[in-house]
Parts: sequence; C-alpha cells; structure tokens
Amino acid sequence: MAALVPVTRVVSGMRPTGRLHLGHYHGVLKNWVRLQHEYECLFFVADWHALTTHYEGPAVVARSVREMVIDWLAAGIDAHSATLFVQSDIPQHAELHLLLSMMTPLAWLERVPTYKDQQERLREKDLDTYGFLGYPLLQTADILAYRAAFVPVGEDQIPHIEFSREIARRFNYLYGREKDFVERAEEALRKMGRKPAKAYQDLRVAYLERGDSEALDTARALVERQPNVTLGDKERLLGYLEGNGRLILPEPQPLLTNESRMPGLDGQKMSKSYGNTISLRETPDEVTKKVRTMPTDPSRVRRADPGEPGRCPVWPFHVIYSSTETRAWVEEGCRSARIGCLECKQPVIDAINAELAPIRVRAEELEQDPSRVRTILAEGARRARDIAEETLVDVRRAMNLIWD
Ligand code: TRP
Ligand code: SF4
Repeated sequence: MAALVPVTRVVSGMRPTGRLHLGHYHGVLKNWVRLQHEYECLFFVADWHALTTHYEGPAVVARSVREMVIDWLAAGIDAHSATLFVQSDIPQHAELHLLLSMMTPLAWLERVPTYKDQQERLREKDLDTYGFLGYPLLQTADILAYRAAFVPVGEDQIPHIEFSREIARRFNYLYGREKDFVERAEEALRKMGRKPAKAYQDLRVAYLERGDSEALDTARALVERQPNVTLGDKERLLGYLEGNGRLILPEPQPLLTNESRMPGLDGQKMSKSYGNTISLRETPDEVTKKVRTMPTDPSRVRRADPGEPGRCPVWPFHVIYSSTETRAWVEEGCRSARIGCLECKQPVIDAINAELAPIRVRAEELEQDPSRVRTILAEGARRARDIAEETLVDVRRAMNLIWD
C-alpha cells in the first residue's frame, strides 16, 4: 500500500548568519531529523534571506553556509534521506519571486507583522530596503517552488506561512482560470476511470455542500495517487474540488515545531543576539567554563545560604537534561544549602558534553573532508532544481510566458 500514499513534501530553510547552538538543536534540528524519515524533505541554507539583513557585511553569510551544513549533518540530518541545498544555487527561487512580485499587493507585504517588528528590533541596520520588504515573498517562492505541503517553522514564522497561502490562492485565482475549465475538469475525471471518478464526485459534493474538510483531504489524496492523470489535469481536478480554477500552486500548511524554548546561559531564551549560547562545536572545556560561570539564584550569596531552583537559570537546564532523581537532589540540596552551585552544575555540564560529543566528532570528520559537503550540496541542488523547474514551467505557462 505504501506506493499509494502520495509524497508529502516538506520544505524548510535556515538563515546562515553564524554558528548554530543548542537552541537550534533542540528547537529545530531534532525536529528535522525526525521529519526526514516521515516525509520527502528539502532543507536549504537561505543565504539570500540572510542578505536581506546582512547586505552590508555579506562575508559572514558566505562563511556560515558550509559551517551550517556541517552542523546539520553532524546533528543527524542524513543527506540520503533529505535533500540539502543552498538557496542561491537554485535560480528558480529568484524567478518565482520575481513573477509573484508582479501580483503581490504592496499592502500585503507592509502588514506582515515581522516587517515592522524587525525594523524596530534591528534599529542599528537600515532595513528600509526593497529586499527586506520582500522577505516574506522570497520565502513564499522558496515554498511554492516545491509545492510543499508542510513547512516546519517556529511560532514567529506563522505569519509568513499565512502570507504564502494568500499568495498561492491569489495566483491560482488569477492564473488558474480557463474558459472551458469545467469541461476540462470533467474530461479529466472521465480519464480517471469509473470507480475513482465516482468516489471523487461523492467527496467533492461532501466538501462543497457540507463543508466536510476530511472529504476534501481524502479526495486530494485520491487525485494525487492517480497514475494516468497528467500534471495539468491533476491541477484541474484539485482546483475543481474547491470549485475554483486549476490549483497550480497548492497552499502550504505550517508544521509548528513544539518549541522547546531552550534556555540561555542567563535565563533568557538562548539566542545569538543575547550572547548566551552554547554552540554545537563548543569544546568540553568551553562548555565547562560557560556553565560554571552561569549566574544562579541571586539569594545564594554564600554557600551556606539556601536557594530556590525556581529563581535560578541553571534549573531549566536540569529540567531538560537531568533525571527525576537528579532533579530531586537539586531541589532538596539547593533549598537546604546542602549542595553548592558548582556541584549542582556538574550534571548539566556532563549531560551537555555527552550530547555534543558525537556531534563534535562528526563535525570534525566533515571539516577534514571539504569535498563531501560540496558533493552533498551539488547533488541536493540538482534534485531541488529539477522539482523547482517543473513548477516554473507550469507557472510560466500559466502567466503566458511560453508563447509559441
Ligand atoms: N524565514 C525563515 C527564518 O527566519 C527562514 C526561511 C527562509 C524559511 N525561507 C524559508 C523557512 C522557507 C521555511 C521555509 O527562520
Ligand atoms: Fe541554582 Fe543549583 Fe545553585 Fe540552586 S544549587 S542556586 S539550583 S545552581
């Protein structure tokens, strides 16, 4: 039966603006590692997106690209399971961005909440640029070029996915119309064969008349697995389900990563901009030093003062890394002042180092072998380009750019 399940494609990108840290590992990478076995995954380095904020100093972007891919692979992303590539290796993203820009209302971009937020937050940078305004549209092109079903992202990116859905809808509305759409959809239906066609009709009615969204999903899966239907007919059948024109660019769904808010060394969220990170390539000595110098409950001025884990930035690390017994030992020992803070931190240091040990080894191997990463990215780019080009052929045709 496995062959009948349509491929469900997942696309996600990361901006190469520096070293990856434990926050990326727990928040994103572990999730990607899991997804790569469940879906057809494309993961890419969003170097053009990085340039929207780092256009004045692009060197850090260039430097971070291969390091980022090394970190991904070291963290367990498997280049045989997932397709890995660099955004700027796929000109189709840029072409789709340009074509979509023709029909993107300026007001839609201006009201994306991250636009004003980021301009405020990154005041030291001049983000009054065309490129920065277009950030969500470039992201839309990244996603729609692969007709992705799901996009794993954190909460902050939800408005961008919503934006890409609106753009897909508008595109289909503008360019998916055909004079004889209904006739052609019915014709495609006949080609499916009697039984699947009947099932399709029933599901379509269930959706259009009763709003049964499960029926819609079932019907979509039915269309996807038809062996004898051309791509154009597939688009018609998918569009016809919802009563519109052809569905040239399907709307993606966000796949919300259950955001484990990795705490930073100072109690705030771990983030490069707070300078409170532990990078994935930190040496054991650096990890030890960073954790040993972490602030603790301010009321524990002297060793003999009792403390409260709930007020201590070290405690969230125990929540992530320690067993129930160790946590009980911390709570009891801290409140009674029976343990010192350095003693309390040691299990955290050991756990982080144990977690990073295999990552460090793999990263070192990859650093020794630059051709390996190069080959992985070249192969990934080839695969990605083929998929994206297929979409662009359709897009160009829909926009009348293929004129003979
Ligand atoms: N904007 C995303 C972020 O900052 C990165 C990104 C670029 C992305 N293109 C994408 C994520 C496409 C998902 C899909 O995290
Ligand atoms: Fe924090 Fe542990 Fe010190 Fe208590 S004993 S203040 S939990 S580091």
